[in-house]
Amino acid sequence: MFRSCNRINFRFVSNSSQNVKKYKVSTGIGVALVSAGFLAGYVGSSITIAQNVPQFLFPSGSKTSLQDLRSPEYLDPRFALDKFKSRLLLIVQEQDLSFKKGDLDDHSFNNYTLHKPKDNERPYVIVYPRDTEHISQIMKLCYEFGVPVIPFAGGTSIEGQFISTRNINSDKECICEHQDTVTVMLDFNKYMNKVIQVNADDLDCIVQPGVIAKELNDEYLDKLGLMFGPDGAPGCEIGGQIGTSCSGTNAYRYGTMKENVVNVTAVMADGTIIKTRQRPKKSSNGYNLTGLFIGSEGTLGVVTEATVKLHVKPIHETISIVSFQDLNQATQLVQLLTKKGILGINAIELLDANMMKAINFSGQTSRSWKEQPTLLFKLGSHNKAILNEVINDIKKLSQETNCTSCEFAKTPEQQEELWSARKSIFWSSIDYGRHLFGPDVKIWSTDIAVPVSKLSTVIDDSLKEVTDAGLYGTVVGHVGDGNFHCLVMYNIQDEQKALEVIDNMTIRAIANEGTCSGEHGIGTSKRKFLTMELGQDTISVMRRIKMALDPARILNPDKLFKIDPADKKD
Ligand SMILES: Cc1cc2nc3c(=O)[nH]c(=O)nc-3n(C[C@H](O)[C@H](O)[C@H](O)COP(=O)(O)OP(=O)(O)OC[C@H]3O[C@@H](n4cnc5c(N)ncnc54)[C@H](O)[C@@H]3O)c2cc1C
Ligand SMILES: *[C@@H]1O[C@H](CO)[C@@H](O)[C@H](O)[C@H]1NC(C)=O
Ligand SMILES: *[C@@H]1O[C@H](CO)[C@@H](O)[C@H](O)[C@H]1NC(C)=O
Ligand SMILES: *[C@@H]1O[C@H](CO)[C@@H](O)[C@H](O)[C@H]1NC(C)=O
Ligand SMILES: *[C@@H]1O[C@H](CO)[C@@H](O)[C@H](O)[C@H]1NC(C)=O
Ligand SMILES: *[C@@H]1O[C@H](CO)[C@@H](O)[C@H](O)[C@H]1NC(C)=O
Ligand SMILES: *[C@@H]1O[C@H](CO)[C@@H](O)[C@H](O)[C@H]1NC(C)=O
Repeated sequence: MFRSCNRINFRFVSNSSQNVKKYKVSTGIGVALVSAGFLAGYVGSSITIAQNVPQFLFPSGSKTSLQDLRSPEYLDPRFALDKFKSRLLLIVQEQDLSFKKGDLDDHSFNNYTLHKPKDNERPYVIVYPRDTEHISQIMKLCYEFGVPVIPFAGGTSIEGQFISTRNINSDKECICEHQDTVTVMLDFNKYMNKVIQVNADDLDCIVQPGVIAKELNDEYLDKLGLMFGPDGAPGCEIGGQIGTSCSGTNAYRYGTMKENVVNVTAVMADGTIIKTRQRPKKSSNGYNLTGLFIGSEGTLGVVTEATVKLHVKPIHETISIVSFQDLNQATQLVQLLTKKGILGINAIELLDANMMKAINFSGQTSRSWKEQPTLLFKLGSHNKAILNEVINDIKKLSQETNCTSCEFAKTPEQQEELWSARKSIFWSSIDYGRHLFGPDVKIWSTDIAVPVSKLSTVIDDSLKEVTDAGLYGTVVGHVGDGNFHCLVMYNIQDEQKALEVIDNMTIRAIANEGTCSGEHGIGTSKRKFLTMELGQDTISVMRRIKMALDPARILNPDKLFKIDPADKKD
């Protein structure tokens, strides 16, 4: 029944309490780790896990390598689950949690992602917290028992960001290094979905993590002539957007989440509540803790409130569409426009020839299109004259780069029509994929970014590899930022080949001074590429920060990088 571990065990007596806690220590190479609670069954009363983490948790030096660590020890459900559950029920009312299989499934994946959890990778319970203080109480309990916690917002991330990687699997032999436990998932959508305050005069607003970005715009900001910039999938929420540093089509002009969050309230792993700073746009003081949470995928703290920046919606807007013989000319235009410092361009989207072909084929839009590399521009200003100047600049520079056509929308209807090409990319690609590969075609979106000067070569080389492998790929790019998605289509029997092409694309981005993820994030599926991109040392410094703030490793374990030497997944 007990695990057979050959580690040295000794008793660690905490000064502050009469509880005897057990820790495992390996002094071999100056390395040690708290054996968090080390099985309640050993000492009947001791289920306390991560309190009073001793100093020897941290190896000397500035970084924590994976091999410095021992596996984390989480709550063992065989001994402590009932006790944990009854304590949880003292904090959370019955109607604010769910153990239903359907709910657990819905909080484990979405229908877009290829990275599906295994059958046993489900949360133990979904908790719908009421407010910051409530989350603090829940975190304190989970910290005490060593229970992993995963924040869940819109559930639209696609790289395995919210998979419960450490779960009950009663059939499996208990492995010393990789303990099965239970996971608590915090869903903000039921109660923590409020817009708390819109400071129109300061261009910011305070929101809870369950606010859906689209609703913030449609219901609160639009009527004030304001907007919130970052846009992910339609159902994404502020908490998740902070988690993945969401960006999207507006980022060229308004920035990613990294540029759009002023301050946050966060609950740390042990239940401590912090505010990262006050509300002015700038502050030169100390570490940027706000920034630390953005892109951290729930691994460092639970964001329970955020003050985000707002922007003034342009009063006069239009859409321009410019086509080219080849892709390189399109990216040259993007570089020219950027270098000339032309303001008033709010988005630059690239659709490659394959994408235009798919859009034309699927007929979901009301017109026919040139099947050539195409740039779509969103232009806007508060002033009509300025907008006309931007239009003239684009006309002139498009001709200099030898475009084959350059059109501007003159009416709102025409704007709608031109932008419809951009809107239909996903369904058009699926339609075309079905035409090529049959009704069961599979589709997967890559997400790389490179410096704009390298973009056309990277796209061309990638598409050549896709085609040579007998697959089909359509490209949509937020090219102003050098970020593009290739939607790779394939038959299930070609899955291995497709995955290889997709991996090769990511490696190609890194080789071209780029990143393995422009906006979708790392989750569990791109960890090896993050290491490839930044190097072991950088990851080990990140791991040190993780261990400093979450020594029991309960916050969204296994995302971004490995925290367990027994973790054998890529
Ligand atoms: C069809 C489709 C289109 C997409 N288009 C884009 C796009 O254009 N641009 C783009 O950037 N992304 C895009 N995405 C990806 C996705 O929408 C974004 O990553 C989005 O930010 C995820 O938000 P969410 O609310 O769904 O987060 P979730 O998936 O719920 O969570 C994401 C991560 O954040 C963590 N998290 C959630 N809430 C909190 C919190 N309160 N505190 C701390 N951590 C938290 C979670 O644990 C998880 O690790 C797209 C996805 C799909 C399926
Ligand atoms: C996936 O799609 C099915 C069928 O449309 C739907 O019933 C289910 O709720 C979806 N699952 C998720 C997690 O969105
Ligand atoms: C940001 O700072 C202001 C000023 O202290 C405060 O009112 C606000 O609540 C903070 N926002 C968050 C999300 O903590
Ligand atoms: C800190 O980080 C936030 C979020 O990434 C960013 O918006 C801000 O500009 C950074 N700097 C300061 C001084 O707040
Ligand atoms: C686009 O589709 C339309 C309608 O099917 C077709 O008439 C047109 O020739 C296509 N355009 C090109 C460039 O193939
Ligand atoms: C456009 O055409 C001119 C004249 O043929 C040529 O000098 C120039 O290099 C071309 N530019 C691009 C971006 O194709
Ligand atoms: C992936 O890249 C490797 C190394 O360049 C190459 O050998 C392999 O053929 C590529 N895979 C595919 C499917 O193109």
